[in-house]
Amino acid sequence: MGSVNLNSISRNVQSVEISGIRKFYNKVVQYPDAISLTLGQPDFNVPDKIKAAMVKAIEDNKTSYTSNAGIIELREEISKYLESFGINYTKDEICITIGGSEALMDVFTALINHGDKILIPDPAYPAYESCVKILGGTVLNYDLKDDFSIDFDNLKKILEHEKPKAMVLSYPSNPTGAILSKEDTIKLFELLKNNEVLIISDEIYASLCFEKNYYSISQYSEIKDRTILIGGFSKMFSMTGLRIGYVCADKLFMDEIMKVHQYNVSCAPSISQWGAYEGLKNCMKDIDYMCSKFMERRDYMYNRLKSMGFSVNLPKGAFYIFPSIKKFGMKSDEFCEKLLKEAKVAIVPGSAFGTKGKGYVRISYAYSMDKLKLSMEKIEYWINTLK
Ligand SMILES: Cc1ncc(COP(=O)(O)O)c(C=O)c1O
Repeated sequence: MGSVNLNSISRNVQSVEISGIRKFYNKVVQYPDAISLTLGQPDFNVPDKIKAAMVKAIEDNKTSYTSNAGIIELREEISKYLESFGINYTKDEICITIGGSEALMDVFTALINHGDKILIPDPAYPAYESCVKILGGTVLNYDLKDDFSIDFDNLKKILEHEKPKAMVLSYPSNPTGAILSKEDTIKLFELLKNNEVLIISDEIYASLCFEKNYYSISQYSEIKDRTILIGGFSKMFSMTGLRIGYVCADKLFMDEIMKVHQYNVSCAPSISQWGAYEGLKNCMKDIDYMCSKFMERRDYMYNRLKSMGFSVNLPKGAFYIFPSIKKFGMKSDEFCEKLLKEAKVAIVPGSAFGTKGKGYVRISYAYSMDKLKLSMEKIEYWINTLK
């Protein structure tokens, strides 16, 4: 017994902590009367047609393993769906995964050798950094400007001097709500076409883009052979618990990603795959509805926070807003803890998303308008007590 201690545990695994979002969520549980705006779980029900398709799949006994890559019907629909964004991957270049999370881990596992440098934006979705560390990779960060767009001077320098193996792009962004503008996508392509870096583009919020046109680096066929796309349905169909995502890559990478996927999970859950298939075939109107609701909420939150004096960028996608709290003279975790204790509103400290997230907070507006209105009133009242 005495010989069992932390030396028995992988040092890479010990080097990461549980996500700051979850950590804070666990604190919120201690305040049952608090309003929580912490999670990335839309408040909409799964569209009825998806539910019915899943029930039917069970009744039809579609409950066995699927092929490792997932059912052909769903992969074909994903291929068509991506085409509508100007992104071209055939069904054989698509693997269905257990959420975007498995897709990310599979890709990083397939790519990373010990010490490989992986370039990640700061702030960013925390899983990127943790996956890389667990796999023994080295995390490098690139800077974002005040409006959360890419700081190209910084990116160019890092690409030239550090020569990272891969870089992560994450648009629309969790936590900032930023998207890639047309100009920046062109600039990015011009920079990346002359570089050898592999590109991992996490576009899990692609369906929640509030601008008319969608721009992404995965639209450029010239660099498709080294661009790996991550997508999924958790946010798109409000089906986070049904766990369906996907990864798209050229054959060279897909063959290796598939090995990791196969030995990890064999395949994604069959029933949920049929649900996602129904979603893509027949639920695009539900997406339009959800998107329009998120836009209403985004406008409300932005205007309300601005009128309270927060410095904040207008989010253009996903369902998060990331205001600065620097003027309140508190660290972001201190701000959030006080807000939770004193005003009973839970939001996530920006520090959970990286060093550059310090001085910001992430508010999820994937909640009902009533909840958002009440929480904004409480925040306003609390802020006035600080003056
Ligand atoms: C940017 C980003 N990528 C990937 C994921 C993982 O999604 P999933 O729930 O499909 O595993 C999330 C979930 O919040 C996310 O915000």
